Amino acid sequence: MDKSHKKPAAAPDALDLLKADHDKVKSLFREFEDLRGSDDEDERKGELVDEICYELTVHTMIEDEIFYPVLRSVIDDDDMMDEADVEHAGARELISQLEVMYPGDDHYDATVTVLGEEIAHHIDKEENDMFDAARRAGLDLDELGEQLAARKEELDEDLSSPATSLDAIEPRDSARRPPRPPN
Ligand SMILES: [Fe+2]
Repeated sequence: MDKSHKKPAAAPDALDLLKADHDKVKSLFREFEDLRGSDDEDERKGELVDEICYELTVHTMIEDEIFYPVLRSVIDDDDMMDEADVEHAGARELISQLEVMYPGDDHYDATVTVLGEEIAHHIDKEENDMFDAARRAGLDLDELGEQLAARKEELDEDLSSPATSLDAIEPRDSARRPPRPPN
């Protein structure tokens, strides 16, 4: 039989990790767009938007805290980095609007769509210009990937604690286990 000790899986380098986040978020936006126009999909829309806001919050934080400052310090392109900062601020603004909106609200779908369009544009610029710059700058992308993954894990724990969860306002019943029947 197989021994259970595995070779440690190769950790993704920084760019693979960020790209995986991008792909995940893009697919959530695609699913939302498929539901636009249907009136009875509010519950699923709400779940998708919760997930989008959560993923984008964690993703922009690890970029703001780790990836952007490191990249800014090794390349000579403050314009590109400044624009990315402004794009993150724009995303945070729309996310904070969505966090207090409900599916069916006036401008709900439009807000999600505009956020999705802005994020798609931002992702294109990152994956083309910024990732290229990071590769050319000779950064240790494996080491950076480890830092990003560690911070992401930490944020996942922090944001999942009841006090700070995005869902804190509206606890989900499904998260509670039914009591066990007595033996
Ligand atoms: Fe990104």
